[in-house]
Amino acid sequence: MRISVIGTGYLGTTHAAGMAEFGHHVIGLDIDTERVAALNKGRAPIFEPNLDPMLERHTGSGQLRFTTDHTDIADWADVHFLCVNTPQSPSGAADLGQLRNVRDQLAPLLTRPTLIILKSTVPVGTAAQLRQEFRALAPAGDGVDLTVNPEFLREGHAVEDTLRPDRIVLGVEDERSLEVLDRVYAIPLSDDTPRVLTNFATAELIKNAANAFLATKISFINAMAQLCQATGGDVTELADAIGFDERIGRAFLNAGLGFGGGCFPKDIRSLAHSADEHGVEVLSNFIGSVERINDSQRTEVTELTVEHLGGDAAGKRIAVLGATFKPGTDDTRNSPALTVAEQLHSRGAEVRVYDPHARLSTRDNFSQAATAQDAVAGADIVLHLTEWPEFRSLDPAVLAPLVQSTIIIDARLKLNPHTWRAAGWTLIQPGRVDRTPAC
Ligand code: UGA
Repeated sequence: MRISVIGTGYLGTTHAAGMAEFGHHVIGLDIDTERVAALNKGRAPIFEPNLDPMLERHTGSGQLRFTTDHTDIADWADVHFLCVNTPQSPSGAADLGQLRNVRDQLAPLLTRPTLIILKSTVPVGTAAQLRQEFRALAPAGDGVDLTVNPEFLREGHAVEDTLRPDRIVLGVEDERSLEVLDRVYAIPLSDDTPRVLTNFATAELIKNAANAFLATKISFINAMAQLCQATGGDVTELADAIGFDERIGRAFLNAGLGFGGGCFPKDIRSLAHSADEHGVEVLSNFIGSVERINDSQRTEVTELTVEHLGGDAAGKRIAVLGATFKPGTDDTRNSPALTVAEQLHSRGAEVRVYDPHARLSTRDNFSQAATAQDAVAGADIVLHLTEWPEFRSLDPAVLAPLVQSTIIIDARLKLNPHTWRAAGWTLIQPGRVDRTPAC
């Protein structure tokens, strides 16, 4: 099939390459000319494991190309995937400006029957309205169909999640679209990937609910971590034990600094906004608690750091290990690590950050180190804020002589307490019990 993918962020770039991998002919579109030029050379605008080889393969064969021109895709493609960003607006609602731009650029060029597939995360009610607007603007009129097909890919695992999704959700309100969608997804469907067929509103809410539920699990375990800390309990052992119950499951019960990134924070805010708009305050209040717990994890670590610096961070050197919102990505949007770094900077500390992949902006208030060793040199305290695997293999005995003071806060609860304590470090793991020597 001929497929266009509009928007080339984490979602659109991976989706375009994935569609080519499924054997389709694909044109990706973005308004950013530099990005499009790089993509046409097979280079992704983001760090995402296994994405570049797939891009190179398909741009090299000519099966995949990128453009900035809507006339290249309008009547060429059988289906148009909308993968643009829907960032958070000041009111908390999703900002649909990019979707509206696509509608204004693309719809007037649609002269033959086509299918618009809405993949961007949107508030409930968006699809029905967007279909109406496309039909009103397009010369093809009611020949333009629309379907809601939310995406569940995780950054850092985007390629595998695209090629082997755990479910395909389709909000479909006409017969024609379903037949087309079955051809688009013929390969994963032939592998018995579950297909959930539903209406627009449910498909939109499924995406909102999936992210809100995962965020809730994280905030629940983080609130339990705070209670463990206050009572001498151990949150990791607690999570392991409740996670054995299949009804609960162990996934997304890793206590730590909480969630960040370009999705959970804005998506749950947008869901709370929709809930308020529809008079379902119980849901927006519930989400408000999830957000408050998440914010408090960041401030707890900031306060703990100041406490271990003798109550005053001014002039102290703080080494921060990790800047991305989670390992496996270069994404620093709404990163818990950077919030803590920023809070400590505003208390007068000198913050030096090391991250294996993030590139900090020159606007950031911290210096960026080239290695973990470089970051910790002369530090009054070390903070482990994003759990990159390489931090677990650091040798604490090698780092000890480099620092001013051998104190480390492992906010992600991932470092081996015995190794660090044996090397003379004071290791603090909020919500965990110090079991040195091991029992
Ligand atoms: C999330 C969802 O997992 C995807 O299914 C969804 O498609 C995507 O948002 C989206 O809406 O586009 P992602 O933002 O890549 O994917 O990140 P996750 O792996 O879900 O992690 C989110 C945050 O939760 C990270 O900050 C992570 O450190 C944190 N987290 C995760 C915890 O604090 N504890 C855990 O146990 C798990």
